[in-house]
Amino acid sequence: MLIIGHRGASGTAPENTLASFERAIRMGVEMIELDVHRCASGELVVIHDEKINRTTSGKGFVSDKTLHELQQADAGEGERIPTLHEVLRLVNRRAKINIELKGSGVAAPTAGLLHYYKENRGWQTEDFYISSFDHQQLMQFREIDRLSKIGILYERHPHGFIALAKALKATSVNIPMRVVSPELVNEIHSHGLEVWVYTVNNPRLLKRLQEMNVEALFTNYPDRFL
Ligand code: G3P
Ligand code: MG
Repeated sequence: MLIIGHRGASGTAPENTLASFERAIRMGVEMIELDVHRCASGELVVIHDEKINRTTSGKGFVSDKTLHELQQADAGEGERIPTLHEVLRLVNRRAKINIELKGSGVAAPTAGLLHYYKENRGWQTEDFYISSFDHQQLMQFREIDRLSKIGILYERHPHGFIALAKALKATSVNIPMRVVSPELVNEIHSHGLEVWVYTVNNPRLLKRLQEMNVEALFTNYPDRFL
């Protein structure tokens, strides 16, 4: 079972910060997950919400602020909102990265950034995994990048996943724990797709997921599973 550090090790460090990703890597995760938005000055920044209010000392929409303005905010324990570049530099291929396309208009710049890291920094296609609840953005990404692995995110039961997975050449269907059942997992598997489950913080659920042959889980507490 692949254990993915959700927003890093966000149960014990401020989510989506360099400290959180470093902690997850030290816990031994093979993959971290992060969320990407684009700010007013054009950079890809790593933050979950469209506003900075919940996770930082600041207020307002990410898309209204320049990188310089965003960096004034405290993202917890003195951390700042990192750019995707900063996270890649920190991770330096010690873990794979699941980039969740969160804000609008991030598919093309993310594909461009991956291309740059593969061409110039020794990263491999397998080091990246792209996902999104925004299936249009996944299509845009796939038109540019034919190779990277894609997971289709669903908030509820993954109705219509078969056609979409085919169109996207997706690798996995990523579903919340509350909809997981042996029947659903079998159905997804029967179409040659993996099942990735979020967000699992109770280690007692691990056995159940293993029995269903779920391929990966996202957790805020990777050390509970490793
Ligand atoms: O990819 C799993 C999970 O990150 C999806 O939900 O809201 O935590 O980004 P969210
Ligand atoms: Mg996410």
